[in-house]
Amino acid sequence: MNVLEKVVTLNELRKARNELPEPVGLVPTMGFLHEGHLSLVKRACEQSASVVVSIFVNPTQFAPTDDLDAYPRDLERDAALLQEAGAKLLWVPTPEVMYPPDFQTWVDVEKISQPLEGEKRPGHFRGVTTVVTKLFNAVQPQKAFFGQKDAQQAAVIRQMVRDLNMSVEIVTQPIVRERDGLAMSSRNTYLNPAERQAALVLSKSLAAAESAYEAGERDAQSIRKIMEDIINAEPLARLEYVSCADFETLEELEIISNKALLSMAVYIGRTRLIDNCVLG
Ligand code: PAF
Repeated sequence: MNVLEKVVTLNELRKARNELPEPVGLVPTMGFLHEGHLSLVKRACEQSASVVVSIFVNPTQFAPTDDLDAYPRDLERDAALLQEAGAKLLWVPTPEVMYPPDFQTWVDVEKISQPLEGEKRPGHFRGVTTVVTKLFNAVQPQKAFFGQKDAQQAAVIRQMVRDLNMSVEIVTQPIVRERDGLAMSSRNTYLNPAERQAALVLSKSLAAAESAYEAGERDAQSIRKIMEDIINAEPLARLEYVSCADFETLEELEIISNKALLSMAVYIGRTRLIDNCVLG
């Protein structure tokens, strides 16, 4: 049976990490694991001799108005799932381990962090890139695994790794969906049954836009309108943004001629959900 070691402090992490067979793969998470996370761990196990998973609900990527304490947590269940999935080391740092009182260094990726999630959640990516840098420095993995569900996060992290010459390979794994199309997310637990049903407008609007693209539509505004109309027709949904952007730069497109990222953020009741798909 696989044995999962759990550590908290930086010293414990470094000691346990140094004893792991190389190459090491890292799966950074905020816990409350679902099939999407487990698909990352599975891929990491296939591509690494040892897999380290971090669980840390990172306060610096939440806005002051977000309810950080309400973020779902279940460490015992997460550890059991990770042990079964084949992870070797679980790092669960406390906020004090990650951000000691005199903490004052930040990592900020400029341009690609600005639109979409960056515009709606100021400071979010600064928190993500800072904590991911700390995780990379502490664990020193050869590869790190991220979900395509957070498409902009993956793009920002790839940019950071290139810009700062970090010697880690970023692997992204496709979105894992429920049978009815809802993208898996820890936030789905906030949805009541009516909201859970309404949340299907995200994947439905992406599917409609994808069909239009496959039928030959290349006008980005028409594609955005298809998604908007479907979301706006759902009474429990409140659209925050839809985007049809260049896959690499995340700049909004007029005409789709290369790989494009369709993405959106939608409130279903009080729960903010995101989803995306890639065209071309
Ligand atoms: O995607 C997440 O769960 C988080 O943003 C990450 C990458 C673990 C950083 O806190």
